[in-house]
Amino acid sequence: MSTKRFHLGWFMNFTPDEWRTPFGTGGRPWDGRFYVEMAQALERACFDYIMIEDKLMVPQTFGGSTELSLRNAMMVPKHDPAPLAVAMGMATTRLGIVATMSTLAYPPFLLARLCSTIDSLIGGRFGWNIVTSAEDLAAQNFGLDRLPPRELRYEMADEYLDVVRKLFDSWDSNAVVLDREAGIYADHARVRPIDHVGKFYKVRGPLNTVPSPQHRPVFVQAGGSPRGRDFAALHSDSIISVANGPESMKAFRDDIRVRAAKAGRNPDDVKVLFCITPTLGEDADDAREKHRRMVSAPHFITDILASISAITEIDFAQFDLDLPLPHRLVTNGEQGSLDKFQQYGSGKTLRELVVGGAGGLVSSLELVGTPDHVAGLMAEAMEHVGGDGFLITTPVLRVSRGYVVEIADGLIPALQRRGLTRTVYAHPTLRENLLDF
Ligand SMILES: Cc1cc2nc3c(=O)[nH]c(=O)nc-3n(C[C@H](O)[C@H](O)[C@H](O)COP(=O)(O)O)c2cc1C
Repeated sequence: MSTKRFHLGWFMNFTPDEWRTPFGTGGRPWDGRFYVEMAQALERACFDYIMIEDKLMVPQTFGGSTELSLRNAMMVPKHDPAPLAVAMGMATTRLGIVATMSTLAYPPFLLARLCSTIDSLIGGRFGWNIVTSAEDLAAQNFGLDRLPPRELRYEMADEYLDVVRKLFDSWDSNAVVLDREAGIYADHARVRPIDHVGKFYKVRGPLNTVPSPQHRPVFVQAGGSPRGRDFAALHSDSIISVANGPESMKAFRDDIRVRAAKAGRNPDDVKVLFCITPTLGEDADDAREKHRRMVSAPHFITDILASISAITEIDFAQFDLDLPLPHRLVTNGEQGSLDKFQQYGSGKTLRELVVGGAGGLVSSLELVGTPDHVAGLMAEAMEHVGGDGFLITTPVLRVSRGYVVEIADGLIPALQRRGLTRTVYAHPTLRENLLDF
């Protein structure tokens, strides 16, 4: 029987690493080096990609103040993912590097040029996590008073994607001739303006960069609402998601595949990866004790509540921890993440929502145990879901060196022994590696 392999990503928050522990780099100013070394560890474990998450504000929703975010380093500081992607890409040779950039923040020409440049610099391993931004606080850094409503954000993003695709295609792949004898660098007949005039954007083109190894970056997306899923299914090479257990993972992936087929795509070209936060131990007791310590740490609950507050702009400090949420909460921000968190109708108290599973925000499965036990649970879940892989992270998104090593040198070898994840990269580019199985 042949085992179906699955893909691996890492959901990386670009804040300081786990500075509270005695083993973090808490004494040093932020310099990004930790994350470059982390990329090298993930390449050792043959991950498809590391995804650098991003936000464009200092959160101040929780308790109506920036205090908790800044005091606990929750979703802040966040440095620019694009230069980090280059540093990571230069320090690795096969790992895909995905950076988050918002359609709200970048004019499409600059975004396309940046993506093309990075993809050339790192040899065809760059991906763009397409976000439309989800917070008024972010919008206010870009000349707006409010975030546009979700439908409008996605309508704008559809046109945005149309523009950047045209820009990537504004140079034929054979436009660079590099003929020294004839004295021709590029054939001007193979480079054309795009003359895009739409509802939201007006861009002349052509792009002023040479075609990059992947021609366009790998597109990654995380839309969770019906409109967001249509957008993701139409455009993405890989979709990242958070679900509640194998049933909801399967339902999400099946739904995406139907939407992709309706959009005229081969659903196998859209790799759906689910966030998980494994807690690993030497034996089952050790793992359970680590998990207990994590969720009972004094800052755990406030950290989770501060992050869900930041991405929904709903102040969770107002709710009683020992009661269920008073009604189904709605946001113009990350509704999918909110729905996953609030589990409306479950009757769980807010405290139970936070500590349930492996931390309620970014964990699709409860995974606590030895590397081999967790590998078995991941295998079972993937078998049920049908594919395509997992995106590893931590409940509060801060990560320690120790955790990276446990995953890269404990969990992944256990998966590899079962034939579930790759032991060697088959291709030089991220897109080819994603499409390999
Ligand atoms: C796993 C995951 C990762 C995400 N990463 C980011 C991110 O880095 N930056 C961001 O602004 N939004 C991020 N989002 C939010 C999505 O881009 C999107 O705004 C959100 O899911 C709301 O989409 P929806 O309205 O279609 O549900 C992420 C969402 C998920 C589920």
